[in-house]
Amino acid sequence: MNILFVNACVRSDSRTYRLARKILGKLNGNVTEVNLEKENIQPLTSKTLEKRVKLLIDKHYDDEFLRYARQFAQADMIVIAAPFWDLSFPALLKCYVEAITVSGITFKYTEKGILGLCQAKKLIYVSTSGGYIPDNNFGYGYFQSLAENLYGIPETQFFKAEGLDIIDNDVEEIMQKSLAQIDSIL
Ligand SMILES: Cc1cc2nc3c(=O)[nH]c(=O)nc-3n(C[C@H](O)[C@H](O)[C@H](O)COP(=O)(O)O)c2cc1C
Repeated sequence: MNILFVNACVRSDSRTYRLARKILGKLNGNVTEVNLEKENIQPLTSKTLEKRVKLLIDKHYDDEFLRYARQFAQADMIVIAAPFWDLSFPALLKCYVEAITVSGITFKYTEKGILGLCQAKKLIYVSTSGGYIPDNNFGYGYFQSLAENLYGIPETQFFKAEGLDIIDNDVEEIMQKSLAQIDSIL
């Protein structure tokens, strides 16, 4: 199995990354990591959007510029690790979403609506938060919706550790509970 690990963790001692390592250790397959901080993917602008539209009109799906979308579409399983920032996730990850959400590669428009073109059967999203994640989870919830409504990925799963910055919370105990949960579920 070809596993794509999208790493949006930026802190050197990231708790989210620690949970992600546990998840990856439980999965069988070849892991390819996309470290978003190292990739430096820029948001779409007038210039880059125009370039992309031209590539798509000319059906140059194999162009280097579209490599993240191709890689995402071809993965068998996707693991996304992102800390809970400003009620969602780091902007680095939104730039990545812009880079992979490409019609003709990860989804396409049809007479009946949108059809997902991604090969992955499952997307796992992992996050940790300083406080508690509200029910309208704009982190995982957003990726759940992308998987269902755009990419055609049938299953999503969420792992988390919450309350890590709440004063007097026992951070290691919370982390151990999350790690044990991953261990028992995967
Ligand atoms: C820029 C920034 C924004 C954050 N926003 C939130 C937030 O909206 N809600 C929350 O509960 N915690 C928030 N936090 C705290 C982080 O979610 C928490 O420390 C998390 O465990 C960080 O993950 P990491 O250890 O993988 O870096 C924020 C932290 C940073 C640095």
